[in-house]
Amino acid sequence: MSFFSKLFKMSSNDMAIDLGTANTLVYVRGKGIVLDEPSVVAIETINGVRSTKAVGNDAKVMMGKTPDSIQAIRPLRDGVIADIDVAEQMIKEFIRKVAGGNPRPWSFPEIVICVPSGSTAVERRAIRDAALNAGARQVFLIEEPMAAAIGANMPVTEPVGSMVVDIGGGTTEVAVLSLRGLAYTTSVRVGGDKMDEAIVNYVRRHSNLLIGESTAERIKKDFGVARRPDDDKGQTIHIKGRDLVNGVPKEIEINQGQIAEALAEPIGAIVVGVRNVLENIPPELAADIVDQGIVLTGGGALLKDLDVVLRNETGLPVVVAERPLTCVAEGTGRAMEDPVYRGVLMTS
Ligand SMILES: Nc1ncnc2c1ncn2[C@@H]1O[C@H](COP(=O)(O)OP(=O)(O)O)[C@@H](O)[C@H]1O
Ligand SMILES: [Mg+2]
Repeated sequence: MSFFSKLFKMSSNDMAIDLGTANTLVYVRGKGIVLDEPSVVAIETINGVRSTKAVGNDAKVMMGKTPDSIQAIRPLRDGVIADIDVAEQMIKEFIRKVAGGNPRPWSFPEIVICVPSGSTAVERRAIRDAALNAGARQVFLIEEPMAAAIGANMPVTEPVGSMVVDIGGGTTEVAVLSLRGLAYTTSVRVGGDKMDEAIVNYVRRHSNLLIGESTAERIKKDFGVARRPDDDKGQTIHIKGRDLVNGVPKEIEINQGQIAEALAEPIGAIVVGVRNVLENIPPELAADIVDQGIVLTGGGALLKDLDVVLRNETGLPVVVAERPLTCVAEGTGRAMEDPVYRGVLMTS
């Protein structure tokens, strides 16, 4: 390596970005993950003029607590870019935060961004442009299931079928990969958000209690189960919210068996997505999956017993990746750093 290219490499801020519906992670070459924040932007509108008030952690704490003039937006909520301007603001702000102020011309970074496999050409272009406007020298894209599989150490460069199920906030991506490509992929609009909504709805129907989505998410993370516990009930939990009949705050009891019942529908939708892929892949790849099994990534993979449910429903080996929440960011970072994966990076 010449002196100049060494200098260039050392001073560069090359980064890999996992642009998730719930969380955005940034991985810097040689450093690993340096930023992990919610994909949320707080927008203030005064006299019809919109301005960005806060991004990431600062914006998430405002959710559900903002005055009318401020709106907390999740620009990628359902896996598609609902609001491209806001998404662009968010990408730029995260890049600025990591690069620190104005990058000097010789340190303009190369950026690899992970996009949902179901995103359209227009959405991908918009994401690319946002990164270029933020000072990127060159932008590459990588499809999320590929990044997840690399992060989970699956043999994506070999002629062997690997199956990955990434359960994020807004979507679940199911894919079979082989020889650096996606052999088959599908995206279901069901993930952690739909599980939270299912808990909110269940508590409302059963106990006339209104709870917020953040409360539901906390219950899901701490006590959620994908199937009824062996004694049918499991632990009992106390939940506070507002009584729908007389409008005052109250507390109710619910058990883990009931939470499993509440989550049955979104989990059923994920099972259907997995089955669809298994039924549509060529037999040679199907045979590989019988040996290799299915790897679960994304925050939703942390739901207790989800692996057991998928194992029972498919009859295949199912394992949860070691670090489901950071797997995609690590895979995107490795795709940037390791020349072996150059072939999976796309320019558009
Ligand atoms: N322990 C847990 N149990 C169940 N769900 C979890 C757990 N931890 C995180 N999640 C859920 O994972 C989702 C976020 O996962 P993530 O992979 O970051 O999504 P995305 O890639 O779409 O941004 C959220 O819906 C969150 O509630
Ligand atoms: Mg993700």
